[in-house]
Amino acid sequence: MLGLGTIARAAAELRCDVRSAHERDPAASGVGTAEILTTWPGVQALLAHRISHRLHRHGVPLLPRLVAHVSRMLTGIEIHPAAQIGRALFIDHGSGVVIGETAVIGDDVTIYQGVTLGGTGFQTGKRHPTVGNCVTIGSGAKLLGPITVGCNAKIGANSVVINDVPDNTTVVGNPGHPVRVEGRKVEGPDADWIHLPDPIADAMAALGRRVVELETQVRALGGTPSPGDELDESVAEVHVLRPKQGRSPAGG
Ligand SMILES: CC(C)(COP(=O)(O)OP(=O)(O)OC[C@H]1O[C@@H](n2cnc3c(N)ncnc32)[C@H](O)[C@@H]1OP(=O)(O)O)[C@@H](O)C(=O)NCCC(=O)NCCS
Repeated sequence: MLGLGTIARAAAELRCDVRSAHERDPAASGVGTAEILTTWPGVQALLAHRISHRLHRHGVPLLPRLVAHVSRMLTGIEIHPAAQIGRALFIDHGSGVVIGETAVIGDDVTIYQGVTLGGTGFQTGKRHPTVGNCVTIGSGAKLLGPITVGCNAKIGANSVVINDVPDNTTVVGNPGHPVRVEGRKVEGPDADWIHLPDPIADAMAALGRRVVELETQVRALGGTPSPGDELDESVAEVHVLRPKQGRSPAGG
């Protein structure tokens, strides 16, 4: 299980992790490899995960979870030993990151602190997200359920994403919704998540207008309203509950 090939592969993976930290963390510029290996929790958590994942794959009991548990105590990053992680993942800061059992992460992904790749409840089987290559997941974002996040997608800080995200798309907010696709702002009615059509209010408003018209016609025909029965047009008004001011939510 632990041959020369394994050691060479582990060393290559470690070099790749340190390179990712240098490339994607501005705070790592000018910092030596030894310092990154000893003080970057994201790099340490990945190293621990590689060990726990291999032990898990070889069916070793207890030890994989023990390694993951100690790693979580040291780094604040919890990665299930069964989670599948690609090349050059970079977890910045790290604290509060949770990566679930059936999560799959592609290559060159960047994850910030407080990110959850979790399930939505008590389902069994595949219940955690699959994240494509070159995805960035902002701090505090929650990606829940067996969704797929496409390559080069960006997930805004604190977003809650419960639906698939296409390639090259930026998603923000709760619920997470696209604000950029292929680098372009999302336009059209689907871009506006608060000023949505309200068919029930529209139907009631139409009925209200119809009642006013009928009452007017009855009056014109000389119909005699009951005593004290003033025609009050405001009775048929429908007040649609829509915000009248503020930024468009399409812009987050
Ligand atoms: C989403 C993010 C990746 C930017 O992606 P982008 O494709 O470059 O998109 P933009 O910056 O052009 O933002 C797109 C729109 O979403 C809005 N937006 C960006 N991030 C948002 C967020 N986290 N929540 C809500 N709205 C957000 C922007 O205001 C912009 O609105 P507009 O359409 O009205 O202009 C970035 O804002 C983000 O959240 N990064 C995470 C960074 C992080 O976690 N850092 C922690 C360091 S410790």
